[in-house]
Formats: sequence, C-alpha cells, structure tokens
Amino acid sequence: MLTLSGIALLVLPVALAFPAPTPVAVPVAVPHPMITPRASLTDRTPTRVQNRDLLDSIKGAGSYVESVLGSFPSYVASGVPNFFQDFPTGTAVQSSLSISDGDLDALPTQVLNIPSYANWTEQGWNLRFRGNVFKQPNISESKLNDLANIFLIGTKIEDLPAAQQTQARNLTAEIFVVQQGDRNVSFNIEPASSQGVDGTSGGSNAVTPGGGSQNITLVGQTTDQGDYDQFLPIANVSGPGGFLEPGNTTTNIQRLNVYATGTNTGNATSYLVPTVGLTIISDIDDILRITKIYDPAEGLLNSFARAFVPWMNMPEIYANWSQSIPDFHFHYLTTTPEQVTRNYMDFIYKTYPGGSFDTRPLNFSDVSATLSIRKYLLDRIFQTYPNRKFILMADTSNSDVMKDYPQLATDYPGQVQCIFLRNTSATDSSDKFPYDTSGFKGLDNSTYMFFNVPDDLRGLDVMNGQCVNWTVKQTVTFSYQGLPFGLSKNAAGRVDIGGKVVMAAMVMIFAAVFGSL
Ligand SMILES: *[C@@H]1O[C@H](CO)[C@@H](O)[C@H](O)[C@H]1NC(C)=O
Ligand SMILES: *[C@@H]1O[C@H](CO)[C@@H](O)[C@H](O)[C@H]1NC(C)=O
Ligand SMILES: *[C@@H]1O[C@H](CO)[C@@H](O)[C@H](O)[C@H]1NC(C)=O
Ligand SMILES: *[C@@H]1O[C@H](CO)[C@@H](O)[C@H](O)[C@H]1NC(C)=O
Ligand SMILES: *[C@@H]1O[C@H](CO)[C@@H](O)[C@H](O)[C@H]1NC(C)=O
Ligand SMILES: *[C@@H]1O[C@H](CO)[C@@H](O)[C@H](O)[C@H]1NC(C)=O
Ligand SMILES: *[C@@H]1O[C@H](CO)[C@@H](O)[C@H](O)[C@H]1NC(C)=O
Ligand SMILES: *[C@@H]1O[C@H](CO)[C@@H](O)[C@H](O)[C@H]1NC(C)=O
Ligand SMILES: *[C@@H]1O[C@H](CO)[C@@H](O)[C@H](O)[C@H]1NC(C)=O
Ligand SMILES: *[C@@H]1O[C@H](CO)[C@@H](O)[C@H](O)[C@H]1NC(C)=O
Ligand SMILES: *[C@@H]1O[C@H](CO)[C@@H](O)[C@H](O)[C@H]1NC(C)=O
Ligand SMILES: *[C@@H]1O[C@H](CO)[C@@H](O)[C@H](O)[C@H]1NC(C)=O
Repeated sequence: MLTLSGIALLVLPVALAFPAPTPVAVPVAVPHPMITPRASLTDRTPTRVQNRDLLDSIKGAGSYVESVLGSFPSYVASGVPNFFQDFPTGTAVQSSLSISDGDLDALPTQVLNIPSYANWTEQGWNLRFRGNVFKQPNISESKLNDLANIFLIGTKIEDLPAAQQTQARNLTAEIFVVQQGDRNVSFNIEPASSQGVDGTSGGSNAVTPGGGSQNITLVGQTTDQGDYDQFLPIANVSGPGGFLEPGNTTTNIQRLNVYATGTNTGNATSYLVPTVGLTIISDIDDILRITKIYDPAEGLLNSFARAFVPWMNMPEIYANWSQSIPDFHFHYLTTTPEQVTRNYMDFIYKTYPGGSFDTRPLNFSDVSATLSIRKYLLDRIFQTYPNRKFILMADTSNSDVMKDYPQLATDYPGQVQCIFLRNTSATDSSDKFPYDTSGFKGLDNSTYMFFNVPDDLRGLDVMNGQCVNWTVKQTVTFSYQGLPFGLSKNAAGRVDIGGKVVMAAMVMIFAAVFGSL
C-alpha cells in the first residue's frame, strides 16, 4: 500500500482529532495530536444506550459539551464534501510522486481560471480575478489507481465500472497537481457572445457588451500555493459594438470572456453585475446534485467516481427562474476544494444556468480556516454588492450554512430576500445527521423555507419576495433537529444536549471510517 508522505495529509487531521473510536470515550480535549489505532466501522448509527450513557455521564457538565463541540473537526462544521479535505499541494505532491524539478519544468503551465464577477464603482467596472496556476504531472494509470484507492471506502477502483474508474482517475489527477507560486498572470479580455435564456446556457438576459477588449496583468504574483484573487478596474475600451455599459444605468448583466494568456486551459466567462438587482447564491452538493455527504461511503462514490447527477427536477426550477426573472445573477458558491472546481463547473454549466463561481481557496485548508470559509466567501460577495438582494439556497446537512445563512440576514439588513433549505433528512432516511435551526430564531418566517422536494419551490414568485409555500409543513424548533430515534420530539433541554451528543457520536463514526482507510 501507499506510504507517501503527501498521502498522510489526507487522513491525519481526522484521525488525530479523535484518538478513540467508541462514542462513550469522546475525548474532552486533545491538546497534542496522537496517532489513532486502526478502527473498523460496523454500524454508523449510535445506539440509544450509548446516547443515554453519554447523557448520564455529562449531567451538569456544560463545559464538557462545549469542549466536545469545540473540538469538532471541520467536516462537520463546513459540510460537503468534507472528506475532500487537506489535499496535498505543491511540493508535497511533487515529492510524493518523485518528480524531479527538471521534469516539472518541462511540463506546460496551466491555469484554473474561475468564472467571476465585477461590481460598478467610482473607477468603473471592478473585476475579480480568481484562480490557480499549476502543472499537471504525467502520472501513470496504475499510480493513479493506487492514489484513487486512498479516497474510496469499502471498494477499490478496480471493482468500479469503467466509466467510474475514468472519473476517479480524473479527480485524482486534479488533486495531484503541483501548484506554481510566484507566477505573473495576465489575461486577454473580450466580449462574450450572448447566451440563450433556455436556462441551461446562461444567466437570464445576459448580454454581449459592445466593447471592453483589453489585456490586463495581475498585480503581484501568485501565492505560494499558486492562487490569485484580486479585484482590478477594467478600462472602458470601445469595440465594434460600442462600449461597456455602466453598472448604474443598465440592469443587464454583461458577459466578458477572460482568457489566461500563455495557455488554453484558463478560459472563463465573467459577469459584469449591475449595482441593483437580484442574485441567487446557490450551494451545489445535495441541492443541485445528489451527493449524500451524510452517508460517507455513498458520498465518496458520488463525489469521486460516479458522474454527477442532478437532484430530482431542480434544473427545471432554476431554468424557470433564469427565464422568468429579468437580469437574475446566478452565483454558485461551494466549499468544495478548488482542485475539483472544473468538475463542478462542467456539471453546472451543462445542467443549470450559467453564472459565477466560488470554491474553497487553497489557503483555507486548516481546520480553523475551514470553519470560516463559507462565511468568508459569502461576506465577500455581499460586500461587493451592498445594494443587491440575495436568494440563498442550500440544504440542512451543512452546519456552516445553518449558521451563516441566517446570520447574513442580520449582518446585511434588507439584503436577504429568501433563504431556501432543502431538508435532506426529510427525504433521505440515510441522513442521520442532525441540523441546528437555532440560527433562524427571530428571523421573519416569511423569508425562509425548509422544503423537501424541488416542486415545493414551483410557482413561488421569488422575484417579488414570496419565499414560502404554505402547503409545505414547517416544523422549525430553533434547536437541533433531525436526530435519530425521534430524540428531537422530547423535551427541549434534553433535545439540545442530545443533539450535541449524537453529533459527537457521529464524529466518532466518521473518525472510525477514516481511521480504517
Ligand atoms: C453612475 O456611476 C458613476 C461612477 O460611479 C457616477 O459618476 C454617476 O454619477 C452615476 N450615475 C448615476 C445616474 O447614478
Ligand atoms: C506520460 O507518460 C507515459 C508513460 O508513462 C508516456 O507514454 C506518455 O507519452 C506521457 N505523456 C506525456 C504527455 O508526457
Ligand atoms: C513578473 O513581473 C515582474 C514585474 O511586475 C517582473 O519584474 C518579473 O520579472 C516577472 N517575472 C516573471 C517570471 O516573468
Ligand atoms: C493583447 O496582447 C496581444 C499580444 O500578447 C495582442 O496581440 C493583442 O492585440 C492585445 N489585445 C488588446 C486588446 O490590446
Ligand atoms: C464608456 O464610455 C462611453 C463613451 O464615453 C460612455 O458612453 C459609457 O457610458 C462608458 N461606459 C463605462 C462603463 O464607463
Ligand atoms: C480557450 O480559448 C481559446 C481562444 O478562443 C481557444 O483557442 C481554446 O481552445 C480554448 N480552450 C479550451 C480548453 O476550450
Ligand atoms: C477532468 O474532467 C474535467 C471535466 O470533464 C475536465 O475539465 C478536466 O480537464 C479533467 N482533468 C484531467 C486532469 O483530466
Ligand atoms: C487567504 O488569502 C486571501 C487573499 O487571497 C486572504 O484575504 C484571506 O484572509 C486568506 N485566508 C486565510 C485563512 O489565510
Ligand atoms: C466593489 O467590490 C469591492 C470588493 O468586494 C468592495 O470593496 C467595494 O466596496 C465595492 N464597491 C461598491 C461601490 O460597491
Ligand atoms: C410565522 O410566525 C407567525 C407569527 O410569529 C405565526 O403566526 C405563524 O404560524 C408562523 N408560520 C409558520 C409557518 O411557522
Ligand atoms: C407548493 O408545494 C406543492 C407541493 O410540492 C406544489 O404542488 C405546489 O406547486 C407548490 N407551490 C405553490 C405555490 O403552492
Ligand atoms: C417561474 O418563476 C417565476 C418567477 O419567480 C414564478 O412567478 C413562476 O410561478 C414560476 N413558475 C413555475 C412553474 O415554477
């Protein structure tokens, strides 16, 4: 098997955080990481007895509960796909694959250029450039198979159907890239041809600007991890069709193609988004596609081997919004690591309206940063558009969403038009993950809805602020919900403690899964 140093990075954080795999022995605090003994998973569902034991053992021990919560690994807090965590980068990849500097130099430089957005300022259009510069080593198929097997639970790549093997090798190759720091990056910008409004090819009413062609070079070099992320003013250059339209005199979204120079791998379409209007910020996993993060073995296969599959008829709902809501800006914001962005974009652009993208930057990979990544990305877009309104879409299986989405309504008063959360445990019995609705306490209940199937969203006039389908039963308790064994139906105090304990137990089970890799 593999003993590459780079690989250790994949499993260590999880294993280290939880030295003992039995729920009863939940560690109070882990001041210094220790190596976890191998553990095997028998049943993901904690038993009732274990729960009671835990409850009994922590009576009156609030600080203990807090310390358990405090030591939650990031995948619980940040959601999907949290097993996609702490990928090796740069030199760790290079050394784990034994690639010489000379071999690396000979490889072409590639750019992951992420479709972005611009806001209108005193200086004109201010465009965000975001992406990564890297080299793709030539890894043999057998080596890719070995590396892919590290990600799979309870199966081997050799046992998967051919198409899934290809997909698993593709993702593995994308993870094992060597990022390039200290690189200058420049772009050639051109008006993008118009997209139809058929809902699968473009944000509605996006137009081709008359001009705007120009070359632009980023300020400074890529970070040590090869990332770049900066806003730069773009010039109002005339073209055959005229000029760029200012963002305060048009409601149209204008599209520009942004080509990284020196490679044909860094093409993206970015969006000039007017000062006023409506933007949807949509998560992807378990809302736009079937992931089942809450079911680890399935979640891994769905993320790693199987072709991405839309969740029910969600594409139809988005297509309708794209066609019927004028100048609707679609922004896809997922905390999936940057390395797999291409696969997410590929799926989204074939299935949902075109739009800008956010994935997890490489410098947000340690545990504390992972806890904050979604809020960081959300704040960023809210601060870019202080006069736009937002519709927020995700599912209940991400605890960071459950905290961050309602928080935005408080932090940016009047800007959150609707929050829609798919209740994953309502429709999927394999979801044993509880979710915390306490963040919604005090929010106007006509601004958010927990829903079960895409059809619950049908016919809602979201453009005019109709966020609730009153035929969909809402059972929000403003505490932990979706616990196994109907625990949430008990008295409030016990529910809360039970929730935390069950979550702790789930963490142990995840730890067991990872410990056995
Ligand atoms: C539009 O924005 C520009 C630059 O910020 C400003 O000079 C101009 O007055 C604005 N026009 C309107 C109609 O608000
Ligand atoms: C990759 O390596 C294989 C042999 O391991 C070789 O046949 C192939 O030409 C290489 N591809 C590139 C693009 O270098
Ligand atoms: C990057 O750009 C700077 C000027 O901004 C220049 O001094 C430096 O030589 C460039 N580096 C490379 C590798 O082209
Ligand atoms: C951008 O730079 C290329 C050369 O690198 C040049 O051919 C092209 O005309 C430039 N485009 C603009 C709009 O300046
Ligand atoms: C660009 O310049 C033209 C001509 O002066 C003007 O009509 C247009 O509003 C300007 N657009 C932007 C984005 O500044
Ligand atoms: C990127 O755009 C350039 C210029 O249009 C084109 O030649 C190239 O094939 C594109 N690359 C990809 C991967 O589509
Ligand atoms: C993996 O697949 C995606 C989506 O089809 C593609 O854009 C990407 O180039 C592939 N990556 C590799 C390393 O083959
Ligand atoms: C990551 O880098 C961005 C700038 O590219 C910076 O604003 C952010 O604070 C950094 N995050 C962390 C956790 O270091
Ligand atoms: C434009 O976006 C930048 C980056 O988020 C932000 O700092 C700035 O305040 C925004 N400007 C306006 C006028 O909204
Ligand atoms: C929303 O809140 C109002 C008053 O606070 C209450 O009467 C109503 O039942 C609530 N609706 C739902 C669906 O919970
Ligand atoms: C509400 O939800 C039901 C059940 O999914 C659906 O049939 C209906 O179209 C939705 N919309 C409205 C406005 O009732
Ligand atoms: C399509 O979206 C519009 C705008 O939100 C809404 O009014 C309409 O009812 C939707 N139609 C369906 C079938 O969902």
